[in-house]
Amino acid sequence: MTNLAYKTEHTFNWKEESASAALQSLRPLPRISIQVFCETAPVAEAIEKAGADRRMAKTHVKMHMGGISAAIEYYQSAATPNLIILESRTEPGELIDSLNQLAEVCDAGTKVVVIGHYNDVWLYRELIRTGISEYVVAPVSMPDIVGVIAGIFTDPSAGPIGKALAFVGGKGGVGSSTLAHNAGWAMSKLFESEVMVVDLDLPFGTANINFDQDPPQGIAEAVFAPERLDEVYLDRLLAQCAEGLSLLAAPSTLDRVYDFDAEAFVHIIDTAQRTAPVVVLDVPHLWTSWTKTTLARADDIVLTVTPELANLRNAKNLIDTLRKLRPNDDPPRLIINQTNVPKRPEIGVDDFADALGLVPLAVIPFEPQLFGKAANSGRMLGETDANHPIVQAINDMAHVLTGRREIRQKKKIGLGALFGRLGRRK
Ligand SMILES: Nc1ncnc2c1ncn2[C@@H]1O[C@H](COP(=O)(O)OP(=O)(O)O)[C@@H](O)[C@H]1O
Ligand SMILES: [Mg+2]
Repeated sequence: MTNLAYKTEHTFNWKEESASAALQSLRPLPRISIQVFCETAPVAEAIEKAGADRRMAKTHVKMHMGGISAAIEYYQSAATPNLIILESRTEPGELIDSLNQLAEVCDAGTKVVVIGHYNDVWLYRELIRTGISEYVVAPVSMPDIVGVIAGIFTDPSAGPIGKALAFVGGKGGVGSSTLAHNAGWAMSKLFESEVMVVDLDLPFGTANINFDQDPPQGIAEAVFAPERLDEVYLDRLLAQCAEGLSLLAAPSTLDRVYDFDAEAFVHIIDTAQRTAPVVVLDVPHLWTSWTKTTLARADDIVLTVTPELANLRNAKNLIDTLRKLRPNDDPPRLIINQTNVPKRPEIGVDDFADALGLVPLAVIPFEPQLFGKAANSGRMLGETDANHPIVQAINDMAHVLTGRREIRQKKKIGLGALFGRLGRRK
């Protein structure tokens, strides 16, 4: 993208930030329809990639080849969508003429973005003056496309959207929920920032126990009455656990079963992200359509494991699958929890992390006294023993997860033979 496109009111700091950092700062796009008329394969490819990005998951993108003339013909008989993206190699004067023809068949609410091949200031001004939302000069990249569309369709007056951090375990019982709750608590304490914990384990969730809460309402009311849910209703369903920390609690009862569609929690999470800058999603260890969607759409994923082979196998599968679902995002953050259990043979932390190609966000020893005491009294680890090294580790995690600090890199050691063992099982 050239400088031309920076000059509109929908400005991005593409120059200062890397493309992927700029992508990270974008909020998910609303449910808009987009039709694309391309002329060249590279532009079509960039748009196709953008359409597959998680931030565009709710949009409907339809691709056509043939540029502006195909669009003019197409809309003679079809209604225009929310957004038309046109690629054109036509020279500036002729391009303006064709766009005028298109304007005659375009509905008033439709936005138009033009991807051209002429870097021409006169053309740019002329296009913006005639109501084109953006003019971008080819070549374009996937982040350029997502950024331009986000600039038009995400309302800056809605303020910064919250980050959704999804915590999930490589197996059940690895401590994913406990660490999610404690990390959320630490973020709200350390940065005096509003944090919402959402317990997605409806039958068995423990956030209510860990925060010593027994709210009469919570996530079940939201998921079973989606038509009622907005920011105001969500507020009423929240339990206030501490200053700056609210909980959308699970019912943790078995009087009904909990089968959900892929999209069942999307609206709840969107609404939560409009009301709190950090949303901690406590995702149960399940692989269902809705857990898959929730993980695929989260801003960041924290994967907690314990150092044994089944966790390594599961973590590897999750990381590989998530890489396919979120090709433009970083891999999950890795927490290796419950290390050094007396008498238990374990996979070494470095071998484990190397086999996954990740630097762990944290390595947390097995410490039943601290965890047991906190769990049984309904208090956070930081309230139980503020100076414990594990509490310090969770505080460090909070800094990294909110983008305040990078992981402190440890020296890497050689690859273990772990995947040799896993490979044999296939
Ligand atoms: N590092 C640890 N040392 C000792 N106990 C732990 C540790 N991490 C978690 N636990 C305990 O393990 C149990 C399972 O934790 P939980 O967070 O419910 O796991 P998950 O959500 O992964 O199923 C809880 O009783 C918790 O207190
Ligand atoms: Mg759990």
